[in-house]
Formats: sequence, structure tokens, C-alpha cells
Amino acid sequence: MEITVTLENIQQCAYYFWERVQGRVFAFHGEMGAGKTTFIAALCAAKGIAGHVSSPTFSLINEYTYEEEGLPARMFHIDLYRLKDEEEAVNAGIEDCLYSGDICFVEWPEKIPSLLPENRIDIYLHPVNTNTRLLKIDFRR
Ligand SMILES: Nc1ncnc2c1ncn2[C@@H]1O[C@H](COP(=O)(O)OP(=O)(O)OP(=O)(O)O)[C@@H](O)[C@H]1O
Ligand SMILES: [Mg+2]
Repeated sequence: MEITVTLENIQQCAYYFWERVQGRVFAFHGEMGAGKTTFIAALCAAKGIAGHVSSPTFSLINEYTYEEEGLPARMFHIDLYRLKDEEEAVNAGIEDCLYSGDICFVEWPEKIPSLLPENRIDIYLHPVNTNTRLLKIDFRR
């Protein structure tokens, strides 16, 4: 599936995404500034996460709480840009997040090839122009 995202339609794109895409672990591929964090923030907003969504600054993992079908739920935003190696990811408890069954968004997933679940959804962001991005979403099953 492909979605053409602009800063004007990004919130509608996020609702469209959640209508079409079933999954728990979402691996976001794309160069610096491709728009990974920005789209993740829109996906979070669509789930009703009120607070400000930005990349984890002081840790590798941000945890957000929201309500799913009236019940408290949580999701994880994992940014591996500063990760040294997979051992650091294991020590930080990233596998616990990835296999928790909670929604996980992962930026720079290429840093942990052997830790990523098989049944993740890969999302590739391609800059089209200054305010347009093409998202290619790869369903594995
Ligand atoms: N259609 C778009 N979708 C997402 N971001 C866009 C779009 N158009 C322009 N932008 C801008 O591009 C920048 C994307 O930054 P963002 O932090 O989301 O990228 P990133 O892929 O997370 O980068 P990094 O690898 O450094 O974490 C922001 O300044 C954002 O406003
Ligand atoms: Mg980012």
C-alpha cells in the first residue's frame, strides 16, 4: 500500500493508515528528515495520545498511554539512531517492548536486524519534495 503524505493531509493519512493496517510493530525506514517522527506523531494523535510526541531524547524508548476500546493501553516509540549495537538494545529492554503485544513504532530499525519480530510491518518513507512524502507500506501477512 502507498500513501502520499503532505503536512496538510497528514492527520487524514494517519486515520486512513489505522483503518487499513493491522499490526503491532511498525518499522519506519527512511533517511534523516524523511518524516518518520512526524508521521508517528500523527499516528499517535489518531489514537488519542494527547501529549507531545517527539523522538525519545534521554532514552531509546518513549512510552505513551491511550485508551483502546475503553481500556487503558500503551504504545512504545523507539528511536535507535544513537544505538551502538544490538547488545545495548537488549540491555535497554527493547525486546520486551517489541514482543509485548503493544503497538511499537521503531525508527532506524536497521540497527537491530536480529531483534525485529518477523511479523512486523515495514514502512518506507521517500521524500518527493519539500512537503510531500511517499509512504510504502509492506504487509508481511
Ligand atoms: N509530508 C511530510 N511528512 C512528514 N514530514 C514532513 C512532510 N513534509 C515535510 N516534513 C518535514 O520534514 C521533517 C521531518 O522530520 P522528522 O523528524 O519527522 O524526520 P525523521 O525521519 O524522524 O528524521 P530522523 O531520522 O532525524 O529522526 C520535519 O521538519 C517535517 O515538518
Ligand atoms: Mg525521527
